[in-house]
Amino acid sequence: MNKNINWVEIDRAALIGNVRAFRKLLETQAKFMPVIKSNAYGHGLPEAASILAGSKQVDWLGLNSLDEAIALRKRGVRKPLLLLGYVPLARLAEAARNDIRLTVYNRETVLALGKIKVQKKIRLHIKLETGTNRQGVDLAGAINLAGLIQKYPHLLLEGYSTHFANIEDTTDRSYPDGQKDRYLKMIARLEKLGHSAPVNHVACTAAALIFPDTHKNLARIGIGLYGLWPSRETMLAVRDRVPGFSLAPVLSWKTRVAQVKTVSSGSFVSYGCTYRTTRRTRLAVLPVGYYDGYDRKLSNTAHVLIKGKRAPIRGRVCMNLCLADITDIPGVKLEDEAVLLGKQGKEQISAEQLAQWIGTINYEVVTRINPLLPRIIVNK
Ligand SMILES: Cc1ncc(COP(=O)(O)O)c(C=O)c1O
Repeated sequence: MNKNINWVEIDRAALIGNVRAFRKLLETQAKFMPVIKSNAYGHGLPEAASILAGSKQVDWLGLNSLDEAIALRKRGVRKPLLLLGYVPLARLAEAARNDIRLTVYNRETVLALGKIKVQKKIRLHIKLETGTNRQGVDLAGAINLAGLIQKYPHLLLEGYSTHFANIEDTTDRSYPDGQKDRYLKMIARLEKLGHSAPVNHVACTAAALIFPDTHKNLARIGIGLYGLWPSRETMLAVRDRVPGFSLAPVLSWKTRVAQVKTVSSGSFVSYGCTYRTTRRTRLAVLPVGYYDGYDRKLSNTAHVLIKGKRAPIRGRVCMNLCLADITDIPGVKLEDEAVLLGKQGKEQISAEQLAQWIGTINYEVVTRINPLLPRIIVNK
């Protein structure tokens, strides 16, 4: 029995369906690496890993922090784990002990790794800077790092990678085309100098969907895995390029009614008195607030679903509570389920809708759901 006040549901079949859709789409030589960093984009790292780590269609798992990777090793996950984020110099030995692949872009990191005593080789991926100007090194830096790695017998240069800056938000392909070009030229030069690496990876979800030539031999798939589109532009481009390709959202976020009350016309609702009723109004008190990740900008803006109908949020979203207007939804009672994100009956509140209400992207909406909330895997 679900005894929670607000919780996240993960649809196992939807997640598995999305894995299948990407496996089918990716070129056969490309290994498939779901990106499950940041608590699996809010879906719950242990829950996502429990489904993905056992899947034959999943080859590697991509993470951001060492803590995420160690948590998976502790749960017995044996698949190759690649860190995309930064590992402090003081924790590199821990990464090596846990057989975690690292993305490197600092000489200091390689020098520190060089001093570590390990049985098994430490596998490294150099991040190439091709125009995102985030992590990564230019060609001279890459030659330098590759040369340094080769000096240490226990370090193995396993891969090169880069990350696109501008695929999602535009239909103009010139910037990613430039990045692809620079990447290929850098790899060609590195290979010529004897710094070959067996694994090449550049594709995120949007790249994998739009440019098959980015699949290389590993694809890093994040948002799409969770059934969310990187952007409307990507969705429209894919509709033309891959007819029949579809994704199913994996996450729903729910709560239950904590009190039903009626207030008279002209009553103020919640902090700051930002909403005043214009009729006798029935309110459902919902035990969810900005602490949980339900953004305060949803105040007086969002809807939730109760009894399959939309109930507008009235007044300010508080730290742990918010209020929904249920005047037009008869029969709502204590502990009825309210859907903050997801489907109920024929209605749906999507991550994109919530993102639009608060001026952000679906990535942020799901990722910022408080990691402490229970994640429940459901088999629909
Ligand atoms: C380096 C890197 N690769 C891949 C991804 C996955 O991107 P997406 O969620 O758009 O598939 C991310 C996401 O932030 C990333 O930072």
